[in-house]
Amino acid sequence: MSDSGKSAKRSSFSGSIGYVMAAAGSAVGLGNIWRFPYLAAKYGGGAFLLVYIILVVTFGYTLMLSETALGRKARKSAVGTFKAYGGDNGASRLGGWINAIVPMIIAPYYCVIGGWVFKYLYAYIVGDVKEAAGDSYFGNFITSTSGSMFWFIVFAAFTMVVIFMGVESGIEKVSKFMMPVLVVLAFVIAIYSMTRPGAAEGVKYFLIPNFHHFSWMTVVAALGQMFYSLSLAMGILYTYGSYMKDDVNIEHAGNQVQIFDSLVAILAGLMIIPAVFAYSGGTAKNLSAGPSLMFITLPKVFADMGGSRIVGAAFFVLVLFAALTSSISLAETCTSTFQDELKISRNKAAWLTVVVIFVLGSLSSLGYSALSNVTIIGMQMLDFFDFASNSVLMPIAAFATCLLVVRKVGLDKFSDIVKETSPFRREKMYRVFVKYIAPVFLMVILLSSILSAFGIFSL
Ligand code: PHE
Repeated sequence: MSDSGKSAKRSSFSGSIGYVMAAAGSAVGLGNIWRFPYLAAKYGGGAFLLVYIILVVTFGYTLMLSETALGRKARKSAVGTFKAYGGDNGASRLGGWINAIVPMIIAPYYCVIGGWVFKYLYAYIVGDVKEAAGDSYFGNFITSTSGSMFWFIVFAAFTMVVIFMGVESGIEKVSKFMMPVLVVLAFVIAIYSMTRPGAAEGVKYFLIPNFHHFSWMTVVAALGQMFYSLSLAMGILYTYGSYMKDDVNIEHAGNQVQIFDSLVAILAGLMIIPAVFAYSGGTAKNLSAGPSLMFITLPKVFADMGGSRIVGAAFFVLVLFAALTSSISLAETCTSTFQDELKISRNKAAWLTVVVIFVLGSLSSLGYSALSNVTIIGMQMLDFFDFASNSVLMPIAAFATCLLVVRKVGLDKFSDIVKETSPFRREKMYRVFVKYIAPVFLMVILLSSILSAFGIFSL
């Protein structure tokens, strides 16, 4: 689905299913399998899950519908859609660019985590099942400069080869087959992990909301995760909307993506959180392990299972695919923005993407090794990029989208656009959210995360 922006005929999805598959392929990735479980474990278990689901069906719905519907109507990516509705002025350009910059920050560190997945896949292929389950395996790996850089570059190279060759259709075919297999395997692993001795506590912690575990940070983290996981507030759904046929029911298609994405996240939570309780103990320290959680916990589950080398290798192959489809959509978005806005050829734009990924990704990767004593506002490099994109830029990007709908397009006109193809069942809720709740809430979240990052306000 490359979007040259200059070609006379815009590429398009084959129908509702084309949009749903592409949007779900972009949505389901490391965000669901790696990021969601560690945030849920850290920020309140069941309380986090409940807040997350409420945010998905309200905020997530509002933003997804706004981005897709406007992208489809304007037949443009984010920057072009902002210009089409907001006029060619500084404010629209800023709104569009904030959306467009987010993937440039996420793509590099996404490739670093993708490299970690590659490394574990390799470990299972060569049969290092016991070693991978050891407590210091992960730490030793990410603190070795050459090891983590090597796997980061391997993953980034896979991503970029696809961008250069433009073979998305092949990737789409493979992922159509891989996604369902991933879900089935995750299901089996989740059942195994939930039935280990001591795991029941973990199931309870993850599924039953306990408001002693709730804090303002639960909401901040859940909101950032919702943007990340649904690929919102970064221009992706504007672009995918612009490829959507005129007769597809937008509301319905969006719901399907949300349901699928949330189910995969919940499955990943059931795979990982009960295992933390069973194998390491559900102490606050273990639950707040952060980005390393999946890599430390799952190998222990695999080492314990029969046929673990095969199960481990199969699992990491599938996660690798889910990660690749997402990183490709990130890199594709960067490339098409460079191409359209800097008016350069697709090839040059792709090389510029390579440079951005290499420079920022190396910083993230080295942030655990050679540069481990460099911190930005108290955060390691990868955490900083994650924070800057998810907690700072995405709320601003989402705010810009709300403003565009309310101030420039107008709520009545927006309703007409949606009603061209769907009944717009949640119209009332949509209006209240896009006009009042979302903008206010987004600004509160933004301020509180910035203040807390600088230690002025503690969450
Ligand atoms: N949504 C993807 C995930 O959950 C990550 C992603 C973000 C992909 C933004 C594309 C764009 O892993």
